[in-house]
Amino acid sequence: MDDRFSEDFIFGASSSAFQIEGALDRDGRGPSVWDDFVSRPGRERLRSDAATACDHYARWADDVAIAGELGLDAYRFSVSWPRIQPDGSGEPNRAGIDFYSRLVDALLERGVRPFPTLFHWDLPSALQRGSGGFRARDTVARFGDYAGIVARALGDRVKDWITINEPFEYACFGHLFGTHAPGVKNPLAYLPVVHHQLLAHGRAVSAIRSEAAGARVGIALSWTPVHPARDTEADARAAARTNAFMNGVSFDPILLGRYPDLVTGGLLKPPVRDGDMEAISTPIDFVGLNYYSRERARNAPLVPFIRADVTGKEPRELPETDDRTAMGWEVYHDGLAEILAELRGRYGNPPVVVTEFGSAWSDEVETDAATGRAGVRDARRVRYLRGQLAVMRSAIGAGSDLRGAFVWSLTDNFEWAEGNAKRFGLVHVDYGTQARTVKDSGRWYSALIASRVLDAPSSGQGSEEA
Ligand code: FCB
Repeated sequence: MDDRFSEDFIFGASSSAFQIEGALDRDGRGPSVWDDFVSRPGRERLRSDAATACDHYARWADDVAIAGELGLDAYRFSVSWPRIQPDGSGEPNRAGIDFYSRLVDALLERGVRPFPTLFHWDLPSALQRGSGGFRARDTVARFGDYAGIVARALGDRVKDWITINEPFEYACFGHLFGTHAPGVKNPLAYLPVVHHQLLAHGRAVSAIRSEAAGARVGIALSWTPVHPARDTEADARAAARTNAFMNGVSFDPILLGRYPDLVTGGLLKPPVRDGDMEAISTPIDFVGLNYYSRERARNAPLVPFIRADVTGKEPRELPETDDRTAMGWEVYHDGLAEILAELRGRYGNPPVVVTEFGSAWSDEVETDAATGRAGVRDARRVRYLRGQLAVMRSAIGAGSDLRGAFVWSLTDNFEWAEGNAKRFGLVHVDYGTQARTVKDSGRWYSALIASRVLDAPSSGQGSEEA
């Protein structure tokens, strides 16, 4: 097999505002639902992790320099809505715009293409308090305005845009399970929050295109293949339902212009009005795919919507092994192959950018006795990334229109409900000193970007020098 990636394949790394920036009350930023969530009693640890995170708001230039030194083709970051509009509407906050404008300039100076995401879960608190956030249709128009403001400010330099990150996760963890911000546990909220985010995406696509000529716009959707836990008819049906509510619920509306029948067939339905599905399925330039692992579904009639227990991709107190990451997620490369095949078949082979792939491990900084140099020997991450990229390379061979891949994440960062404890970075962050140390995986990725050739698994476990 040809292991070469073309020169125009985009090798990048991703991050998001709340997970790296810290500086939650600097320069006029308003609070977000995540500020409120980590401020609840009993969450002191999360609160202090988020308050500084990677201190990126102060250290952005260092992080851009690292991205440049690694030779990244592109960097995906998110714009914090409450830095741009502190209470979610009205006049933009100049200081917020300036921050992202400087970031974009610095990336371009280093030859790194900026891929901003407009919403990566940090909704301005005022919108949540006022109308229930994305549960309310009104938030769609607010998001359209905000997207227009950012596109107007950055669109002369930014060509690649991502509207929303993982509408499914934001709706499900934030509004059904309550394990993420805004911490709502209400089955009535789930489908409205999905639908209004998808509609907000559609609105943003138009707003960006009318403000920024030549913009390429996509959305980042997660896809977790769901397999039956046992070889039974009941579990097969449970897997199909779960697949519809986790994956089909966003891919079908965006790419096919309709919700899966399993999603519209229940008592609770998405609040679709005339014209909504057309707006949601406005043709986009690429679909962003976030892939981590798979789920296994077991029939369980009392669980809302999916009537299934899912057991795979949840953090568990299980030991980390070669096949199970620090998040408790199974290492399952075939899942990505399965998804890319479905995108080629059922979804008409749209241009795809893998906007997130990566894995968390308990990395430690070690100092090399001979050289005195600090490093992180994260051979498991190197193997994981190589496995994923091998699948992508084969999918391209099989006809997938795969344009790029972004590792989650450039640096270790605030992993939502897990705080700073779970490390996904190519670059290690010491949260005590904020020192950055490029891990072996970062050096390996950098060498890959330079050569465009995926090395064989036997040729070193990521010990190459950048
Ligand atoms: C995704 C999120 C991202 C990060 C990874 C591990 O669901 O988009 O912010 O937390 O998971």
